[in-house]
Amino acid sequence: MTAYPRKSALLLALVALAGLAAHPAWAQSTVAEGQKLAFDRGKGNCLTCHVIKGGDLPGTIGPELKDLKAKYPDRSELAAILFDETKRNPQTMMPPFGRNRILTEQEIDAIVDFLQTL
Ligand code: HEC
Repeated sequence: MTAYPRKSALLLALVALAGLAAHPAWAQSTVAEGQKLAFDRGKGNCLTCHVIKGGDLPGTIGPELKDLKAKYPDRSELAAILFDETKRNPQTMMPPFGRNRILTEQEIDAIVDFLQTL
């Protein structure tokens, strides 16, 4: 009778381990998801203002997005720029994607993963 709960605890542990092992694949998919969100004209729409490797018909209102990992080694800086760039620059043209809820925190996180590959 007591064997059943133990078995399910073991199962849970296995599921958790499998999750850990799968982490690299998950990280890959957030980069792809981040790129999709960044390029999506109804979501990040980043190409309207930024040249981004792999993106079509970019605008040039903002700087080209590249070497961002070197420029902002701390990913929270990039997340903050996406969340609300008006904090750094009140005059910026860049929409405050987080504050205005254009993007969720999860979506911003995925885009930061993508930006760090540029
Ligand atoms: C309406 C134009 C516009 C849009 C849309 C826009 N940005 Fe920007 N972005 C700018 C401008 C202009 C700057 C220059 C810095 C400033 O204005 O404060 C900037 C700066 C940045 C920077 C800092 C770059 C550096 O080299 O320091 C990052 C990172 C960035 N944007 C990412 C994004 C991402 C990702 C998106 C899409 C989710 C996006 N931007 C959408 C206009 C835009």
